[in-house]
Amino acid sequence: MNFDFIELTKKYSFPEKRPRHHVAPYLYVPFSKLKVIPENYPKPIERLNWEDVFINAKQPNCLDIGSGRGKFLLEFACKHKDKNILGLEIRRNCVEWLEAVIKGERLENVGILWYNVLNGLNFIENSSLEAIFYLFPDPWPKSRHSKRRAMNEEMLEELHSKLSQSGKIYFATDIEEIHNYHIELLTQSGKFHFNELQDDFDWGLPQTNKEISCLQRGKPYFRIIAEKI
Ligand SMILES: C[S@@+](CC[C@H](N)C(=O)[O-])C[C@H]1O[C@@H](n2cnc3c(N)ncnc32)[C@H](O)[C@@H]1O
Repeated sequence: MNFDFIELTKKYSFPEKRPRHHVAPYLYVPFSKLKVIPENYPKPIERLNWEDVFINAKQPNCLDIGSGRGKFLLEFACKHKDKNILGLEIRRNCVEWLEAVIKGERLENVGILWYNVLNGLNFIENSSLEAIFYLFPDPWPKSRHSKRRAMNEEMLEELHSKLSQSGKIYFATDIEEIHNYHIELLTQSGKFHFNELQDDFDWGLPQTNKEISCLQRGKPYFRIIAEKI
């Protein structure tokens, strides 16, 4: 399949209006901390049969956290047929659209789960991932909302345990405060070698929906590659 995201949005009609995360902040809270479980909250997952997730039934070796509309997820899968990439996304309508595309195009090596990453990654084998993509994931730039951010010390520790030897986390954000927060977390952890990338450095990854929107608006963004020590 030649990858053309715009064509896919024409072929598979996109879900109605863009959901606003501010009107559903409870979605960004771990299950264990919710007093009432809302109807549109994805259930925590402990175990999975990979044949229920990937057409090729293999386990993932790449993970895309917060896939959003999924251009990156789909394009990465189309360009790397030898890798299985799993997307996690909390917005149900994005997930339903991606499921329709994956099924309709019979994309064997990409899976998408309706899931809040804050509920843990027990269903992924330790030391099994060669790449984790954490690309423009956090809609919570303000310090007072920092508790709602998916990335924190525990999350970084968990991602470290899921990475194989020399596995990498790729970070991108257009919010300088979040970028600095990522650097702080990586420095404190001491379990990664990491580099901040120059603006024009080509890291060889497909552009994400959000990245394209930043480029169109001339908005700078920040990237880090962190390698497990
Ligand atoms: C700004 S969008 C970016 C999407 C895509 N990565 C891109 O670069 O175009 C951030 C996405 O991360 C998702 N997200 C945020 N927190 C999440 C969480 N705890 N679990 C799963 N997805 C999350 C949001 O729902 C949203 O779709």
